[in-house]
Amino acid sequence: SLPLLLDGHGREHRDLRISLTDHCNLRCTYCMPAQGVPWLPKPTLLTRAELFVLAGCAVRAGVTELRLTGGEPLLRTDIVAVVAGLAALEGPAGRPEVSMTTNGIGLERLAADLAGAGLARVNISLDTLRRDRFAQLARRDRLDDTLAGIEAARAAGLGPLKLNAVLLREVNTDEAVDLLGFALARDAEIRFIEQMPLDAGHTWTREGMVTAEETQALLEAVYHLTPLPGRGAAPAERYAVRPHGRPDADPLGTVGIIASVTRPFCGTCDRLRLTADGQFRTCLFATTETDLRTPLRAGASEEELAGLIRAGLAAKLPGHGINDPGFLQPPRPMSAIGG
Ligand code: GTP
Ligand code: 5AD
Ligand code: SF4
Repeated sequence: SLPLLLDGHGREHRDLRISLTDHCNLRCTYCMPAQGVPWLPKPTLLTRAELFVLAGCAVRAGVTELRLTGGEPLLRTDIVAVVAGLAALEGPAGRPEVSMTTNGIGLERLAADLAGAGLARVNISLDTLRRDRFAQLARRDRLDDTLAGIEAARAAGLGPLKLNAVLLREVNTDEAVDLLGFALARDAEIRFIEQMPLDAGHTWTREGMVTAEETQALLEAVYHLTPLPGRGAAPAERYAVRPHGRPDADPLGTVGIIASVTRPFCGTCDRLRLTADGQFRTCLFATTETDLRTPLRAGASEEELAGLIRAGLAAKLPGHGINDPGFLQPPRPMSAIGG
C-alpha cells in the first residue's frame, strides 16, 4: 500500500518531473528568444546532494517515476551521478523509474554511462530532419548531434525510445509524414505535440498552433491510425499505425498525439514538478510555487518538507485554464519550469 499523494480533486500523484538546469544549447524559436532568457542565479540552483534530499522525500511519499528535464538536462556536468543517485532511491514501492527528456545533444557520448547509472529510457526532441531547417528552428546547426544521440540511445537500450515533435505552421508541417516514417524505421514512437503558451517571448497564438486534428489529417493522408486503449495518466493519445487504406495490415508501429490545448488531459494528471532552483510546482501552468530550497537550506526535516509538498498539492488547480477567458501565461518560461 503506497502512501497517497492526493490533491483536492482526488488525483493521485506518482510522477515527479525534475528540471536540472534552465540552460540549453539550442534556442528553439518556440521556446526562447535568440539571446536566451535571464538565467536563474547560480547560488539558487540545487546541488546534487540537495536534489537527492528532495527527490528522496517525494519517492518516500509515494512518487514512483522521476523524469529529468531542463532546459537541457545533459548540460549538467554531473548528470551521470545525478541519475545514479536518483535511481538508487528507495520508497515503499521500491526504486523509482528514472527517465529523461532531452534534445539528444551529448547523448552520443553519454548514453552508455547513463544506462549504466540506471536511466531507463529517454524522450528525444526532433522537430525536423532537414539540416538547414534545424539550424533555423533551433538557431544552432546541431541536427547531426541530435541524430547521433538518437542512434546512441537505441544502441544503449534506452527504451522504449520516444521522439517529440512540435509542428509549427509554415515551418515544419510538411515534415509530419517524414518524421513519422523516420520514427517507424527506428522502432521509436514519435509524438506530435500541440504548442503551448509557455515561450519566453509570449509569441504563442491559438491561430499559430497546429492542432492535433490538423496533425492527424496530415498523417492520415498516408497512414491508417487506430486509437490504442490504456492511456492512464499519460499526455499522449496513442495510435497504431498501418499503411493508408489497409486497416487489416500488420501495424508498422505507434504514434502519439499530445493535444494539451484542444483536448486537455488535466483530469487524470499525476504530475508534480521541481524546478532547478528548488521550487515545487503542481502544474506547468501554475502561477504559484512552494519554495522548498529555503527550508531545505535552513535544515528542515523530511517530515516538514513532505508537509510543504502535501500543502502545495492540496491547492493544485483542476486544469491549466488555457481555454478560459482571462488565461495568463505563468511568469516562468518553459525552459525554467521543465518541459
Ligand atoms: P512518457 O512518460 O514517456 O509518456 O513522457 P511524457 O510524454 O509525459 O513526457 P515528455 O517530457 O516527453 O513530454 C512530452 C510533451 O508533453 C512536452 O511538450 C511536455 O511539455 C508535455 N507534457 C508533459 N507533462 C505534461 C503535463 O503535465 N501537462 C501538459 N500540459 N503537458 C505536459
Ligand atoms: N509547447 C509544447 N511543447 C513544447 N516543448 C517546448 N516548448 C513547448 C511548447 N511551448 C517541447 C520540447 C520537448 C518537450 C520537453 O517539450 O520540444 O520535446
Ligand atoms: Fe497536469 Fe497542469 Fe499538465 Fe494539466 S497542464 S496535465 S494539470 S501539469
